[in-house]
Amino acid sequence: MPLSERSESKGRMRGAPLTGAMMTERLAAVRARHRQEALERGINPRDVDVLLSDIVGKSLPYLIGHGEESVDAAPLDKLLARRYAGEPLQYIRGKTDFFSREFLVDDRVLIPRPETELVVEAALSRAGRGAHVLDIGTGSGCIAISIERERPDLRVIAVDNSIAALALAARNRARLSSRIALAASDVLSGIRGAFDLIVSNPPYIAAKEIGALQVEVRDFEPHGALTPGKSGTEVIERIVEESRRLLRPDGRVIMEIGFGQESTLREIAATKRFDVEDLISDLAGIARVIVLSAHG
Ligand SMILES: C[S@@+](CC[C@H](N)C(=O)[O-])C[C@H]1O[C@@H](n2cnc3c(N)ncnc32)[C@H](O)[C@@H]1O
Repeated sequence: MPLSERSESKGRMRGAPLTGAMMTERLAAVRARHRQEALERGINPRDVDVLLSDIVGKSLPYLIGHGEESVDAAPLDKLLARRYAGEPLQYIRGKTDFFSREFLVDDRVLIPRPETELVVEAALSRAGRGAHVLDIGTGSGCIAISIERERPDLRVIAVDNSIAALALAARNRARLSSRIALAASDVLSGIRGAFDLIVSNPPYIAAKEIGALQVEVRDFEPHGALTPGKSGTEVIERIVEESRRLLRPDGRVIMEIGFGQESTLREIAATKRFDVEDLISDLAGIARVIVLSAHG
């Protein structure tokens, strides 16, 4: 029987009554069987270890050192069936790490990416004491909450046009004892005030490129968080345009950009009378974060 069918029938405990007794196996056997199946399906076997650790409530070294202990394999079968269907590990676990903190995530929000930590670093290094910071498209709240938790002297407001995303950001705010303000706004249309820093990881993928994304992204992450429309720069252009009204004279816009968008961003900045003050590359050497300052 192919591994896939074996796994599915095991998930149903091979016709056993649903209310039947728990079927236990040795931890080492469960782990070895699922790591092998994950490899055959092109899934990182580390995902098996992470989910097994969550279920057992013990660390990986514990799992390795106590392979003779018994475990009910059914919960792991269920979670891995979701992983094999393409669901990202972070949604299955309901959480991920960003800037050394744990954030709740689900299909209402984009999963925070490591390269987005560059936006946080760029903001922290430029924020004067007591600066006012605005995060556009906050999603899980990861950028805004990280900035505020690192620097409680800053006043941070975070906006999104997704009410569902704002609800999850509010849960992260409470869990992480953050004091950011949250508001619904289409880019900056609902916002008044004066800001020293406007930060954002906006949706920047051109609509026609969505079909070519990994299944994990294309079929599971919210499309409103991925693409703003045909060109991919629709929200970026609006952020640059609308920021002028709210930026203080020596304020900055700090934004994540997509692969290959650097020259388009330079054109947008020039048209909207902004200077490109800095371009920060990620670990792969891709220009990932742009820092703009207004002139004229
Ligand atoms: C790429 S996600 C970034 C989420 C989060 N800041 C992060 O870095 O993980 C973009 C976010 O922008 C929001 N968004 C999309 N269009 C928007 C608009 N017109 N106005 C405000 N927010 C918008 C989406 O709902 C989504 O939460």
